[in-house]
Amino acid sequence: MKTAIVTGAAGGIGAAIATLFASSGATVIALDRSFTGVSEQATGAGQILSASFDVADEADWTAISDMVSERFGHLDALINNAAIFNPVPFLEESVAGFQAVTDVNQLGTFLGMRAAAALMPTQGGSIVNVCSTGGLRGFSGAFSYSTSKWAIRGMTKVAARELAGRNIRVNAVHPGLVDTPMLGENTAENLTKMAASVPLNRLARPEEIASRRVPGVARQRVHHRLRIHDRRRADDLEHDPERRGPRRRSGRKGLAMERRFQGKTAVVTGAGNGIGLATARRLQAEGAEVLSVDWNADYLADCVEPKLTIDLAGDDAPARIVATAKARFGTVDMLINNAGVAGPKALADSSDALIDHVMGINVRAAMRLTRDMLPHLTKPGGCIVNVCSVFGEIGFPNTAPYAASKGALSQLTRQLSADLSADGIRVNAVAPGVINTPIVAERIASDAWYRRAMIETTPIRRVGTAEDVAGGILFLCGPDAQFITGHILNIDGGWLAARVAP
Ligand SMILES: NC(=O)c1ccc[n+]([C@@H]2O[C@H](COP(=O)([O-])OP(=O)(O)OC[C@H]3O[C@@H](n4cnc5c(N)ncnc54)[C@H](O)[C@@H]3O)[C@@H](O)[C@H]2O)c1
Repeated sequence: MKTAIVTGAAGGIGAAIATLFASSGATVIALDRSFTGVSEQATGAGQILSASFDVADEADWTAISDMVSERFGHLDALINNAAIFNPVPFLEESVAGFQAVTDVNQLGTFLGMRAAAALMPTQGGSIVNVCSTGGLRGFSGAFSYSTSKWAIRGMTKVAARELAGRNIRVNAVHPGLVDTPMLGENTAENLTKMAASVPLNRLARPEEIASRRVPGVARQRVHHRLRIHDRRRADDLEHDPERRGPRRRSGRKGLAMERRFQGKTAVVTGAGNGIGLATARRLQAEGAEVLSVDWNADYLADCVEPKLTIDLAGDDAPARIVATAKARFGTVDMLINNAGVAGPKALADSSDALIDHVMGINVRAAMRLTRDMLPHLTKPGGCIVNVCSVFGEIGFPNTAPYAASKGALSQLTRQLSADLSADGIRVNAVAPGVINTPIVAERIASDAWYRRAMIETTPIRRVGTAEDVAGGILFLCGPDAQFITGHILNIDGGWLAARVAP
């Protein structure tokens, strides 16, 4: 029996999270200052134990910790969701107003994380802090609230670093505008304006933030900020396009299989190997029909039909892929631009041929295929996922062509989220860190500097698997991500967020 604490659980996002946890069989300790006394009720396959609680009161945390310890022995998850919103601009903010927001939002999050860490067993647990896009960009007109969310984001990163050694994963979600009582102070006119500023042209529903994939972010081993409805971020690793090892096989060992994509259609490029193969197989296992595209017929040999052997860099590639998909599926629900090649060279050592090769496949081919596929994508409801890289987000020695290409693909993702949302098409990306392909395994074994830079500093000290990335791609395509567009999901064991000392 899993045990989770959810703060601010009386309404909005917190109530939706508590219900979702309980429906999956967990015991939820739902805390809110607007509850009266303590009550218990069976909900779904689990139960919700509600208690009146002030997250800013240390004594309340001591009492609840004692209760969890006595009744359940341990805690598996904490969702720090409680917050207050204060729509006061900087120049008008009072000390009392600032202090009130700081107490609930910041101090409450700190006290919660501290209590949870003490209650989590040696095999670890998961803490998710509910931040806000105000903690990424800063809202004008809500100084205390917005800055408190920046602080929570910082606490998330530092705690992720410090608690990684105890197997406690710490992540944050950054909801955009969600239709909860917190927005209630706005006029109807303001709400309409706010919704119009969102590419998807609506406010989120609390259930979309609570989606079981939010706690699942941690399950997929991503120390990450997940932006719900917004944009940006990315990363990666390399391999030499000339060299490749035996094909990796994918599989979902030990995970309950869902059928999220029954009756859906997808085109996956680079589907003969690695991340593309794992993604195609998982989509098929969950009910989708997949057109697998790769330039190497050997890699495609074991893939099920339909499949197409073609070099994406060729002039006729987009037309042939589109024609095949159209003939087979009619319309395409998901386009996964995964095919990519590496360019692990300093710019000074990069020939014209290398630059053209890397940019040609990683950027030009993805742009051309996406453009030509647009008329055939399902509208509304279609989605595109680009496979970017951590190296598209930060500088890393000796990888100029590849990093530039992945940075371009990240920006294309953000750009298309703006352009295509009017048609109901969502565009997102994943940014993998070190993913275990044979060539990476070889470099890991032979290059101590690389090992130190890429793995030993990763909070979750292992390389990722193709299945780790496929899981993120399916999440972005699936029903739990319907309010997510323009987002780049780091799947990197926390490498971008919080490098740790080797
Ligand atoms: N492995 C990692 O550590 C890592 C990290 C970050 C990002 N990525 C990205 O993930 C994506 C998939 O990489 P992977 O690790 O699965 O590598 P991989 O080499 O196993 O798979 C890439 C696939 O793309 C195909 N491909 C390459 N160029 C093509 C072309 N011109 N036309 C058709 N098919 C082509 C290859 O044949 C191969 O099957 C790439 O975009 C890569 O940049 C990988």
